[in-house]
Amino acid sequence: MGNNRREFLKAGMLGGVTVAASGLSTTADAAQNSGSEESFQILILGGTGFIGPHMVREALRRGHSVTLFNRGRTNNKIFQDLETVKGDRGGDLSVLSGRRWDAVVDNSGYVPRHVQNSAQVLSKNIAHYLYVSTISTYASFAEANDEDSPLAVIEDESIEEVTGETYGPLKALCEKRARQEIGDDRLTILRPTYICGPGDHTDRFSYWPTRTASGGDMLWPGTPSHRIQIIDVKDLANFVVDSIEQRIMGTFNTVTPVDSYSMGDLLEDSQAITATTVNPVWVDEEFIDKHEIAEGRNLPIWHPRVGENAQASSVNGARARAAGLRNRPVRETIRDLMSWWTTLRAERTSQPRAGLSAEREAELIAAWGESDTQVRHR
Ligand SMILES: NC(=O)c1ccc[n+]([C@@H]2O[C@H](COP(=O)([O-])OP(=O)(O)OC[C@H]3O[C@@H](n4cnc5c(N)ncnc54)[C@H](OP(=O)(O)O)[C@@H]3O)[C@@H](O)[C@H]2O)c1
Repeated sequence: MGNNRREFLKAGMLGGVTVAASGLSTTADAAQNSGSEESFQILILGGTGFIGPHMVREALRRGHSVTLFNRGRTNNKIFQDLETVKGDRGGDLSVLSGRRWDAVVDNSGYVPRHVQNSAQVLSKNIAHYLYVSTISTYASFAEANDEDSPLAVIEDESIEEVTGETYGPLKALCEKRARQEIGDDRLTILRPTYICGPGDHTDRFSYWPTRTASGGDMLWPGTPSHRIQIIDVKDLANFVVDSIEQRIMGTFNTVTPVDSYSMGDLLEDSQAITATTVNPVWVDEEFIDKHEIAEGRNLPIWHPRVGENAQASSVNGARARAAGLRNRPVRETIRDLMSWWTTLRAERTSQPRAGLSAEREAELIAAWGESDTQVRHR
């Protein structure tokens, strides 16, 4: 069971890999209210998926100029006013050589060779490389992690296939390659947990408020006091631009504070934002285990209190907060998310990519009603 739970977390955090059209549009109306006196030239490796557009908008809003590098496949119409250098990270990067930027934001590095190649090509001509990593780099979640905790290791460093199992160790190796090429004095590594907000194509966080909006009996895992952690995508984007402006170097977990938010809070906020009341059916971990719904994407964001992922929501983010990361109330994340969700087409919203199907949820609630545990609780 331990392994399965670990696979769940690894697979769960993989959300950034499959880039789907987010349906976002941009105002790209630039340059106002800069938080810095200086205007920076920023290159984003990626920029058109989920988190990239938030960074682009924030950088433009503060008066910086942004160049994108990508293959032109994902949401390729959203930033038509920006220069996009076309290329594939796995291929020839000579289009980037000889160009100068103040800072590079690497959002699309999953394969160590790709990170090494881009860092190598750019190194001489940049002042700052910011690599977006993940908390999945940690070797274990049986204990709480801070930035100095042991990282996952991949035995065969030639592996390039990104799966639920290899994602974390490969990102750890990407960090190492970036450090080798750039050096600590010009490198920022951010390790986000589940990134949430408008444009999230994984539906992991979105499942909870969007399911709440349908009302009725709703299955909730564990207890209302069960803690969870996320990071709002706009808070992450703000911290990325702050890091560039203030030259904040180092490695930072980017998460909400440990113990600041619970499943019960998520229920309450989801009901408040969607103006719906559900009848929550809290099922215990024994039941979840028996029905094997802790694995995969059935109960996204949530992790059991026992086993290898017991401390997955206890990642210490104090270092980033001391450096300036600000976490907005999660209720605001839900509000922004729901505003975006209502703009999506019905074909998209009727097929959520995470969470229990209506049929499965009804079956489980019926089974819970009949279970020994439930009888014992009565
Ligand atoms: N989602 C989460 O909860 C989560 C949690 C922790 C960490 N992360 C990290 O967040 C990052 C992903 O964010 P995102 O996808 O939203 O970033 P993004 O910058 O918004 O989108 C990904 C970009 O990468 C480009 N791209 C993909 N493959 C490429 C290639 N081979 N060559 C050149 N460009 C390529 C895509 O454009 P084209 O397809 O047009 O090339 C797209 O512009 C990853 O580093 C992931 O590890 C995510």
